[in-house]
Amino acid sequence: MIRKHTFGTPFPTDAVVLSLPAEENPLPYFILTRENGQVSLTLRLHPEEKLYGLGEAVRGMNKRGFLYRSWNSDVFNHTESTESLYASHNLLVFFSPEHLFGIYLDDPGQVTWDLGYTRMDTAVITSENGDLDLYLLEEDSLPALARSFRRLTGRSYLPPRWAFGYIQSRWGYASEAEVRRVAREHRQRGIPLDGICLDIDYMEDFKNFTWRKDGFPDLKLFSTEMKQDHIRLIPIIDAAIRTEEGYAPYDSGKAGGFFCRREDGSDFEAAVWPGFCCFPDFLREDARRWFGDLYRPLLEAGIEGFWNDMNEPALFYTERGVREAFRRADELRSGRVDYEAMWDMNHVFNSIANNPEDYRSFFHEADGRKIRHDRVHNLYGAFMTRAAADSFRRFRPSGRVLLFSRSSFIGAHRNGGIWQGDNFSWWSHLKMALQMLPGLNLCGFLYSGCDLGGFGCNVTEDLLERFLQLGVFTPLMRNHSALHTRDQEIYRFSIWETMRDTVRVRYALLPFLYSEFMKAALTDGMYFRPLAFDYPEDPRAVSTEDQLLLGESCMIAPVLEQNASGRYVYLPEDMLMIRFRSPEDYDTVPLEKGDHRIRLSLGEFPLFVRKNRAVLLCSGGECSESLDDTSFTALALANSPVVCTLYRDDGQDPSPVLTEHLIRLSLDPPAGGGILRQHVSCPAG
Ligand code: GLC
Repeated sequence: MIRKHTFGTPFPTDAVVLSLPAEENPLPYFILTRENGQVSLTLRLHPEEKLYGLGEAVRGMNKRGFLYRSWNSDVFNHTESTESLYASHNLLVFFSPEHLFGIYLDDPGQVTWDLGYTRMDTAVITSENGDLDLYLLEEDSLPALARSFRRLTGRSYLPPRWAFGYIQSRWGYASEAEVRRVAREHRQRGIPLDGICLDIDYMEDFKNFTWRKDGFPDLKLFSTEMKQDHIRLIPIIDAAIRTEEGYAPYDSGKAGGFFCRREDGSDFEAAVWPGFCCFPDFLREDARRWFGDLYRPLLEAGIEGFWNDMNEPALFYTERGVREAFRRADELRSGRVDYEAMWDMNHVFNSIANNPEDYRSFFHEADGRKIRHDRVHNLYGAFMTRAAADSFRRFRPSGRVLLFSRSSFIGAHRNGGIWQGDNFSWWSHLKMALQMLPGLNLCGFLYSGCDLGGFGCNVTEDLLERFLQLGVFTPLMRNHSALHTRDQEIYRFSIWETMRDTVRVRYALLPFLYSEFMKAALTDGMYFRPLAFDYPEDPRAVSTEDQLLLGESCMIAPVLEQNASGRYVYLPEDMLMIRFRSPEDYDTVPLEKGDHRIRLSLGEFPLFVRKNRAVLLCSGGECSESLDDTSFTALALANSPVVCTLYRDDGQDPSPVLTEHLIRLSLDPPAGGGILRQHVSCPAG
């Protein structure tokens, strides 16, 4: 059951697709306070209370014990102390012997979530705007709550099937020749590959919707040739448009009046990669349409995938901010030079970027209403995604286009996927990526993954291999790294063959993982779940924080520590462990419910299969299009018949009907029960 409580005059966010009348009755569970225009909800937590949700946020799957802030931020150097990341997903689920409900705050401004931070036993959730729709979801299980939330907010985005292939990316690829070399190295060494991302270096002076003629003289021809080799080019598109007369997107944006404005009516400007830029007012329908139309030449050049970036929006500096910093520096100059003055100076210069005052200094025009940016800040990225997705529906109505964004808000999950933002080549960020995934799924973002290997700083060989072992299972499997860091393509490393075999396992599993993804997306379910969702009565499962359920049959438990030769795993039921080294080389070990120490040397990683359910392995290949999805090896631990369903479609249909694509397989257990290993054929058509 879903109930809506309205406070003040909420701004329409496009997050919710279900129209409900507002409740007259008071909101249960919470003590409500209104002060200085803010609305706060307070609730005493049960000692056993677990809190799930908040999507893109640091720390554990259970969000209890920290203060989080919904405020989309460009936070390149985030750590476990960072309160806000690139996205805001205001769904929180309460789960304890006393509670089983979720709340969704449909509020595009700043929201703080003090979840047992100030007082360990109390949650206080505060909306700064005080204007919001609050949805209360009550169901009888955690998976039912997840489904109910999706009913409220709409079906998750469906990427094309090729987007489940391995994608190589790096900030710095500046020419066709360089990109071709990357492709060649992968193909020649047998490292499977389906896509290469083009970062800002493909553009002319980092200007959106241009490409540098010296590096990429004929993008259409280049993209066609790459596609013949089954490799898609995936260009980046940033949010802002450089202020430059004669640059067509600027001229048309200016002529249409499509940019955000300052109080005095002039266009707001801030610097990002191309220098000073204007910011499209994505909250306006006509501005979205104008921006969406700018993707058209790229689509016509054969591009089938994009990543949308810098859309919090990131502001490197404004003229106001820089002048203010110099003014403060001058003030400090005349005083005593002591440590406090130096710290002040550091602070002044460090807060030039993404400064709150800048976010308060410009306005949107939505539904004929002028609204200050900070009150709707968290919508910006989501509405950029909407502009792009609407354009794809206009210009490529019969196919799916890959789209993943850095910033997002609930609602954007219908239009695209997201990546988990700029991370570092740190073991702690590998763990953070894993722990974030179920929250993202709960909020509807099924197509997601992190920068494998880490974006910032220098990766080590073992860390990249362990990142890839997680990436085998994430829908978006992309290796991405920053300019000036150590080269991070697999073939650069001494253990490249080990890494190659890890990616080959992904391809052997690809039809199965795609099937698990599509079943989850089309039934409003979750592809990744905390163990608590399926084993709510098992206290050990409920407190497990570094393992995930995947689809209907599996559990993953990657190695997350440096120099580890294995790890402890908790099995909430009897399972079959498949310890992979390559698609051809793996052990199958039946394990009983309980705790196990699993040996996993660097090139080994496990997949656990729940009892009487199956995993389907195909023979693999160098790209997703060359995979044979008619012939599989089924692996299971079974003492009764195993019934599983395989979802198979053309990977392009924008609105597939689940039941038309399901193939039911029924497998008999071995006599007396045990490991089932059987060839299964699913003829095409
Ligand atoms: C941002 C993106 C990153 C990209 C870089 C250059 O930091 O998050 O992925 O490589 O900009 O475009």
